[in-house]
Amino acid sequence: MLNDRLRAGALEVAERCATPFYLFDLERLGADYREMERVWRREFPNLTVAYSYKTNPLAAVTRRLAALGGTAEVVSGAELSLALSDGFAPGRIVFDGPVKSPAELALAARLGVPVQVDSLTELDDLLALPDGPPPVGLRLATRGGDGEWSRFGLVPDEVARARELLDRADRPVWGVHAGVGTLSGPDAYREALLFWAETLRDLAKAAEGRLTVDVGGGFPPRGVPGRGWEVYAAAVAAGCREAGLRPEKVDLLIEPGRSLVEEHGALVCRVAVRKSRDGRELLVLDGGTNLARTVKSRAHPIEFPAAPGDLDGRYRLLGANCYEGDVFADDVAGPAGAAPGDVVVIGGAGGYDQPFAHLWVRPRPPVHALDGDTWSVVRERGDTIR
Ligand SMILES: Cc1ncc(COP(=O)(O)O)c(C=O)c1O
Repeated sequence: MLNDRLRAGALEVAERCATPFYLFDLERLGADYREMERVWRREFPNLTVAYSYKTNPLAAVTRRLAALGGTAEVVSGAELSLALSDGFAPGRIVFDGPVKSPAELALAARLGVPVQVDSLTELDDLLALPDGPPPVGLRLATRGGDGEWSRFGLVPDEVARARELLDRADRPVWGVHAGVGTLSGPDAYREALLFWAETLRDLAKAAEGRLTVDVGGGFPPRGVPGRGWEVYAAAVAAGCREAGLRPEKVDLLIEPGRSLVEEHGALVCRVAVRKSRDGRELLVLDGGTNLARTVKSRAHPIEFPAAPGDLDGRYRLLGANCYEGDVFADDVAGPAGAAPGDVVVIGGAGGYDQPFAHLWVRPRPPVHALDGDTWSVVRERGDTIR
């Protein structure tokens, strides 16, 4: 379900501005960031919250988090440059991701930005830098639910080799990254820490207690029943304890993406056309699923904010693009009298949907942001379709 602020904001902005547009609630984002810190700090007083740029690099979002004292998690040189220009000092950035070019690694080294090494190739490149590497973390591979190793990070014999190379270069290990992938559930974090317990203990000892333990992102939005952030924090703390680390002594780093932004963004469209086909009612919107691509992998709340309680009609909701598969949802409840001009809000579009959106036929929609009692354009409509 959408919250009242997004519902009311969508109607207010749509009255003054053309659809489709994205709407983002900066105020709720800030409140969630604070709440996330509060919840995790109860288990881990030495906590760093590093927002995952890839989830939504919108300047209004990242600058708000920089202003709140956050840290940035980036996965490319382009994101690293954005983070610097958004106001994150190099000491408040961590460089992650499966592929980093030698030039990107050299930039991180020059700035002293810690790098989470994903492969031995990358470690070789880092150790070959003329002025030596920046702080080096090791991304530890984890096994998925199917028991298979993830493609990310280093498996045990690669970790042993990486430690040997770092020892030989007289470089300490700054930290580890034991991320388990998105929405894997709290136990997956605990199990990953347990699997790597011996390595964690060894590295913590060598680092004299100053080992950064990064468990990545993958958490749900705030307040999902039974899956609140406190459940994740407790599972990670249990994993640390069982692995022989005291949570109050661990420098814990988390990299939330979706959990901080997804539910605070929406795609706002209007009904462009209504048709009947084979006994079904179709509503064609003025924006397409190319603007909210995760509707194909996950259910999103979809509402008619002018008549939220009026659910007597059932609709197949289609996008504005010229292909049959441009379908937001097959069976959406809405007012029986839904008609061209009605505002429709596709919620859950604050993470991944905006950066994944691709242009086709129409320019990129603008982004409007709610902040306090006002709203403003934070990214203009694109002016090209190619
Ligand atoms: C290394 C890393 N950190 C953080 C994230 C953010 O994950 P989420 O959006 O599930 O919180 C991702 C997502 O792909 C990731 O790969």
